[in-house]
Amino acid sequence: MAKKINNSSEIAPDQDHHDDFDGIKELDNRAPSWIVLVFLATIGFSLFYTIRYFGYPDNGKDQQSEYIQSSEAFDKAHAAMPQSGDKNAGMGEAQMITAGALLYTQKGCIACHGMKGEGNVIGPNLTDNYWLNGCTAENINHMITEGKPEKGMTPFKTMMTAEEIKQVSLFIQKKLVGSNPPNAKAPQGAECKL
Ligand code: HEC
Repeated sequence: MAKKINNSSEIAPDQDHHDDFDGIKELDNRAPSWIVLVFLATIGFSLFYTIRYFGYPDNGKDQQSEYIQSSEAFDKAHAAMPQSGDKNAGMGEAQMITAGALLYTQKGCIACHGMKGEGNVIGPNLTDNYWLNGCTAENINHMITEGKPEKGMTPFKTMMTAEEIKQVSLFIQKKLVGSNPPNAKAPQGAECKL
């Protein structure tokens, strides 16, 4: 049986090479032109894509070439890095102190040592010349790394890298010590000059 389909003026005839399944017949309608256009566009795109990204001709855009290019770029950048493996090696002291000042706030040292290192009911003053655990750079780095949980000082070794610990330690030594903030907590420990 012939039937009119869509708005097309053409009649869709039965395909007589197929059987009738439960009354369902295959018709031979023209595909709508938008779908034909989409189909042709995909063919066009596949040609463009194959030529551009599969290396015909070899234009460096295929996966293999891109991989080689990025690993070469990485090797170059890596060779230019300081070889000690210490990220601070590329930083000046001023930069380290600036980074340390930020860490002092971000890592929550302010909660126990005050905004300006003046100390509070929990932690000691970090601005005077009196220290409970020694005043050398090693002493200070060690306190930040290992903490002193039994006295309430958090160990930061799992929360900061060794480089970050050096930065915040340098900030204490160079900026906090001797800064005489208001409301400074009374000295604790032994006198020890940096
Ligand atoms: C939860 C509270 C707390 C936090 C957070 C904290 N501290 Fe402490 N900190 C203490 C206490 C309490 C002590 C004193 C330990 C003692 O009695 O020896 C201390 C001691 C220290 C000392 C040694 C002071 C001295 O007199 O020997 C340094 C240095 C120090 N903290 C640095 C830091 C830094 C840097 C941070 C942030 C990365 C930090 N602290 C975060 C509580 C804290």
